[in-house]
Amino acid sequence: MSQKKVEELLSKMTIEEKVGQLTQYGTSIYGGVNSPSEDYIRAGRYGSFICFFEPETINHLQKLAVEESRLGIPILFANDVIHGYKTIFPIPLAEACSWNPELAEKAAYIAAKEASSEGTKWTFAPMVDISRDSRWGRVAEGAGEDTYLGRKMAQARVKGFQGEDYSANDRVVACAKHYVGYGAGEGGRDYNSVDMSLQTLHETYLPPFKAAIDAKVGTVMSAFHSFNGIPCTTNKYLLTEILKKTLGFKGVVVSDWDAVNEILQHRFAGTKADAVKAAIEAGVDIDMGSAYFDEVLAEMVAKGVVPIEVLDNAVRKVLQLKYDCGLFDNPYVDVNLHKSVILCDEHIKVARQSARESMVLLKNEGILPLKKTTKKIAVVGPLADDAKSMLGCWSCLGSEHNSVSILKGIQNAVSDKCTIVANQKAASKADVIVAVVGEISNLSGEGKNRTDIGLPDNQLQFLNELKATGLPLVVVLCNGRPLSIPWVAENADAILEAWHGGIQAGNAVADILFGDYNPSGKLVNTFPYAAGCLPFYYNHLSTGRPPLKHIIHTSKYMDAPIDPVFCFGYGLSYTKYKYSDLKVNCDNDSFTASAVIKNEGKIPGDEVVQLYVSDLVASRVRPVKELKGFDKLHLDAGQAIEVSFTVPYSELGFYDYDMNYIVEPGDFKVWIGPNCCEGLEGMFTINR
Ligand code: GLC
Repeated sequence: MSQKKVEELLSKMTIEEKVGQLTQYGTSIYGGVNSPSEDYIRAGRYGSFICFFEPETINHLQKLAVEESRLGIPILFANDVIHGYKTIFPIPLAEACSWNPELAEKAAYIAAKEASSEGTKWTFAPMVDISRDSRWGRVAEGAGEDTYLGRKMAQARVKGFQGEDYSANDRVVACAKHYVGYGAGEGGRDYNSVDMSLQTLHETYLPPFKAAIDAKVGTVMSAFHSFNGIPCTTNKYLLTEILKKTLGFKGVVVSDWDAVNEILQHRFAGTKADAVKAAIEAGVDIDMGSAYFDEVLAEMVAKGVVPIEVLDNAVRKVLQLKYDCGLFDNPYVDVNLHKSVILCDEHIKVARQSARESMVLLKNEGILPLKKTTKKIAVVGPLADDAKSMLGCWSCLGSEHNSVSILKGIQNAVSDKCTIVANQKAASKADVIVAVVGEISNLSGEGKNRTDIGLPDNQLQFLNELKATGLPLVVVLCNGRPLSIPWVAENADAILEAWHGGIQAGNAVADILFGDYNPSGKLVNTFPYAAGCLPFYYNHLSTGRPPLKHIIHTSKYMDAPIDPVFCFGYGLSYTKYKYSDLKVNCDNDSFTASAVIKNEGKIPGDEVVQLYVSDLVASRVRPVKELKGFDKLHLDAGQAIEVSFTVPYSELGFYDYDMNYIVEPGDFKVWIGPNCCEGLEGMFTINR
């Protein structure tokens, strides 16, 4: 849409109508307004609305806006379509364990197709917050602890939702959230204060947002928390200096729900008017859910307390966003489209593949894959038949009636060949026990923080009793966060991390347990020994006293091992991969590392080959190692492939004390391996 049309429309608008475009009402997890006032719509006071409506209702409400308001500006309908709309995919944390951005993009496109077919045109996703503390309930929604992988997943999910042109009727505009540093809340507590160096902000937490902006994300959501003492909602450094000037973001900033009101709770402003002025002048364009803009902004502009230019700049971006969404040309939804789109076979198929690739084989003492001729299999545990929890913590309009539980998936796969027993008493008479434990979906997600990230309730006792039978014990974990599971790691014969795997979780678990899919997932967060080790992440800085097991005065704990139970990038396969022939070459502005990966087993598989780098000496202390590349290879039995990574030196830089981004000459280590703890090691030097 040309700017001319936007300017023409803007010039006709009253101050009240302009404020209306910056006002978003609706329902969220806290409740809210689910039946919009028709008079408000006719007065042009809902710029956007969060709620799930039937397509017919969307058209009815839109008709009021387009045909019965003075200027006919359409409403932008939004929802939290996080990992699927009705076809629910694995939670984003699980999806990231596929290390398959293309598959993540496909899943986001399916979510966009389904959501837009029922009238949602804006999703509040992807969540791109880096999280190093799995006490935080929202670790479930992101892509884990690593910035490089976070960038790739952010880019993929934005492209999936938006495509090249989100005015298309099967796309939605995306929203990179929660800007910025939300995962670093003190104590792993949601909404809590964040305080970090600007170097850490720029090196760790901003890059996934930059990746989303480079992928042309249409909107960004400011976060709830205070950042270095200033609420993100009123943080001009973050919202204007960095987001708009440094990162070049030209789209719309929406506050998080009621966050403009929370400025008072932060005690950053004492009145509604001060909160509104601080938010809009910092760079927030739309007020989600607090109604403060609606209540006081027009008068503040009329009195000159907020300059009209500030108001117009925000409204201009919202109008442009609506034009870019195609709403002025096509404000209505085809009320029949969803019938052929929602939960179609193709979508279910992709959901199953996504679930298969998101699952991580953590241990296998030779008992997996199970034979389909196994006489009796016990499938027991609190999550064995919990189809609802498979939908995860932001399940949109997903229904447990469309979700396959682990028990159901195993029955689907082998009940015609094996006897499946589902109660603990009969377990001791089985040939193998599959114990499905972990967290119900309500134990992760927004506000769901835990001080103990072990198996909840009496699940360890339950597993102990199963172990006492002496039967082969397969533990399937269904959870929304990395867990501390040292006992399980020690005592189970096999462990499959299945997460909350979406509506096809059960079938995907069965595919893996019976060998119809060779697991390829790799962890994207460290599994620490205990919550007391958190925040814990692989790419931590060196210390002057690295932990040494037998020397007390080194950086470790007296009451728990410092080594993770399972490390970042870790995941097993049913076949064996051999890494060899590491070569490292340098040229003027990049280095290239290559290695040969051979499938030495008898079955094909997919291997996520990872490239790590360590800057050995630098003028600021650097991480012990950092992911700088990965490639997911398909290898047939006996096949060998040479994989090569070329990394520009500019990727190896950091911010110096004065916040200049620098790349220093010096020696670097490089690894190519199956996870962050193993691999072929080499060296190179940047001479400049
Ligand atoms: C919630 C979340 C945000 C979500 C919004 C609307 O509080 O923080 O991620 O998009 O409100 O539901």
